[in-house]
Amino acid sequence: MSDRATGSDPAPAHGVACAARASALHRACFGADPTVGGSASGRVNLIGDHVDYAGGPVLPMAIAARTHVAIAPATRDAFASEWSGDEGWTRYASGVLVELRAAGVALPPVSVAVASEVPVGAGLSSSAALEVAVARAALALAGAAMAPREIALLCQRAEHVHAGTPCGIMDQWCVAHAQAGEAILLDCTTLAWRVVALPAELSIEIVDSGVRHALRDGGYAARRADVEEAARLLGVARLAEVPCATPAPGVTRASPALDALPPRLARRARHVVGECARVHRAVEALAAGDLALFGRLLSESHASLRDDFDVSTPELDAIVERARSDGALGARMTGGGFGGSAIIARRHAAATHGR
Ligand code: GLA
Repeated sequence: MSDRATGSDPAPAHGVACAARASALHRACFGADPTVGGSASGRVNLIGDHVDYAGGPVLPMAIAARTHVAIAPATRDAFASEWSGDEGWTRYASGVLVELRAAGVALPPVSVAVASEVPVGAGLSSSAALEVAVARAALALAGAAMAPREIALLCQRAEHVHAGTPCGIMDQWCVAHAQAGEAILLDCTTLAWRVVALPAELSIEIVDSGVRHALRDGGYAARRADVEEAARLLGVARLAEVPCATPAPGVTRASPALDALPPRLARRARHVVGECARVHRAVEALAAGDLALFGRLLSESHASLRDDFDVSTPELDAIVERARSDGALGARMTGGGFGGSAIIARRHAAATHGR
């Protein structure tokens, strides 16, 4: 599927209260009404974690919760948000402004006020939502247009250069392209993508573990470095190029070449190679309406992130175990890990009724 035609902002009506909070905050902090607003949704990743920067496939879904930005011309860039205490977030917002100007957008200095329904550090891409919302508002103020693809890449660059997080492209791409409730399959090597229909009887519950993560804390960068080192040792440009056999539903067998790697890198690589295969199998399972297989793949993904990639936490593991013992189709941590949220896949009660 090609990019949608514009970078325009599809904020649904339910975000109105949050948009009003951003405007009120702008008035309170900067003494003036905002000129324009912009917003973007958070995302939850259904499957395919820690594979985007290895060039693999991912299946994220935009969620209803949004971040709203109110913006106006000012004498210098200034920022205000509902989040108190941690001012680290301003680097994401100012980084987007810097990158927009570097890309030739005629943007004056601006005052930026942010209100958000996307919890910070919960693994739901509060940073990508902030970046894309700032980009949309700033573009609207400058009277400029940019395709969603360019917005996503610019926001990823802002995160790399100005916030210091070597993230992949999944979050910004999903947030810039998908509508709330829409899942997309994205190939992170080619950036080809398409919407994936979710069966009506599938319900995805998001459970916040309450443990806050900060991808900047170093664990994320260390995992990415491991993955790149494994690719280098295997002589491939991206680890996602290493084939993975799937001899039976839900069973993935990574290439024997991985066994030659040092033990830690072999485990990291096993996760990446297996996870890429699981994403494809999950998309097939959804198309076939095989929710049991889809759920099993989610649970396998969790085990791999926990045991081979070492990015889960006891709290996330407990949520996943509880879900499994109470009859869910499957469950897994979602996003970068080290805290954040888990997803639980269930069959809608209405759909199982009478079966
Ligand atoms: C974070 C990053 C993404 C991706 C996920 C893990 O959300 O921003 O690029 O790597 O972690 O899948």
